[in-house]
Amino acid sequence: MRIRRCAILYLEPREDAGFDLASLLAGEAGIRRSLRWLALAPHLDAEVEIDAAARELLGRIGPGAWTQAAPWLQTHAAAVAELLDRGLLLCEAEDGDGADAGRREHRRRDEALRQAHWWPPAALAHRLGRWQGLDSAAAMDAAEMSTAADLRRQLGAPPPHVVERGDAAQRQALPRQDDGEFERLLARRATCRNFDAERALPLPTFARMLQRVFAAQAQVRVGEDTVFLKKHTPSGGGLHATEAYLIVRNVEGVAPGLYHYHPVAHALEPMPPPALPLAQFAAQAVAGQHWFADAHALAVLAPRYARSFWKYRGHAKAYRALLLDVGHLSQTLYLSATELGLGAFVTSAINEVDIEREFGLDPLADGPLAVCGFGWRGTRMRTSEFDPAGEVWRQD
Ligand SMILES: Cc1cc2nc3c(=O)[nH]c(=O)nc-3n(C[C@H](O)[C@H](O)[C@H](O)COP(=O)(O)O)c2cc1C
Repeated sequence: MRIRRCAILYLEPREDAGFDLASLLAGEAGIRRSLRWLALAPHLDAEVEIDAAARELLGRIGPGAWTQAAPWLQTHAAAVAELLDRGLLLCEAEDGDGADAGRREHRRRDEALRQAHWWPPAALAHRLGRWQGLDSAAAMDAAEMSTAADLRRQLGAPPPHVVERGDAAQRQALPRQDDGEFERLLARRATCRNFDAERALPLPTFARMLQRVFAAQAQVRVGEDTVFLKKHTPSGGGLHATEAYLIVRNVEGVAPGLYHYHPVAHALEPMPPPALPLAQFAAQAVAGQHWFADAHALAVLAPRYARSFWKYRGHAKAYRALLLDVGHLSQTLYLSATELGLGAFVTSAINEVDIEREFGLDPLADGPLAVCGFGWRGTRMRTSEFDPAGEVWRQD
């Protein structure tokens, strides 16, 4: 058997702090602190605690060439076996592969990661930042962090709302111009947290939104297998890697359910229904933020990382560019919706793992970064919105 280390691995000496009565009674701080080593690897679902022997082995068995396991097994049989079971070491595929299913799956994921051209720190941040089954709305309520006043009370004052450089007398004042159509559109944009679940969205309005935000307007065909799309939103490298997976809740003529949007055909591709009822899955996707879950249509923004990393291989800016792409898409969606008299939202507080499961996505191949949505605004504000100038909600 030949072995090697997984492709990407970071080791963290993490400190845990807990309440310690004995220390308190002895007149000390009452906190017990301990350190442990964690192995962080983006091809694995979770971080792995390791001991000093395992840590040393991981520093001596490289990720490049396969090496004979026998010499290591003579001296460190138990540690090698455990690292193989946990996916930090991998065994080479052999004829009549005797490795058990778990070890084969670790190797498959590691090989997929090697071929995906992720910049290693970005792969780790992306993988470890995912949530599953989290109710962020309930968590914020429990921590009393839901309103601006709560935040001030719990956290003290934030850094100042503006920064000033130099002497105020030296400023060059600029003319204000609020009189254009576009200025009025920008002023009416406000994150919607009050959708009208009673009123279906007409199909043409829904289709117009998708066309504005996600459709391709033109194509450049470099070769039979190489096509670049032109869209209304800028995209790093012009690659338009981000796909829109839709949760359609209340649109006339479209069965409620899950869809993938085809940006060239301008068409919906039906996907299998979620395990949960649709309303519950929508709420789960946006981490319990019920004020977003009843939008008429929600769009999961999920880049195909390989499309970007085809050009930007192991590139330190590539993941950042994809985050920016998603932000730009959301702004196009906000402004498109506002212009049509609709409300819109975006959130990065999402349960990626649950979304991936239902849409059949792989975290490092096409895992989601954000969810946005749109629909009719409700007539009553049940959840607060940020509209200090009364542009959306009249103050009479
Ligand atoms: C990246 C991003 C993530 C956001 N996530 C949330 C969220 O999880 N929940 C929420 O209620 N609003 C979310 N928002 C909306 C912001 O709270 C909102 O933009 C901000 O309060 C300013 O209000 P406005 O959009 O109406 O101007 C998010 C906005 C952005 C750009």
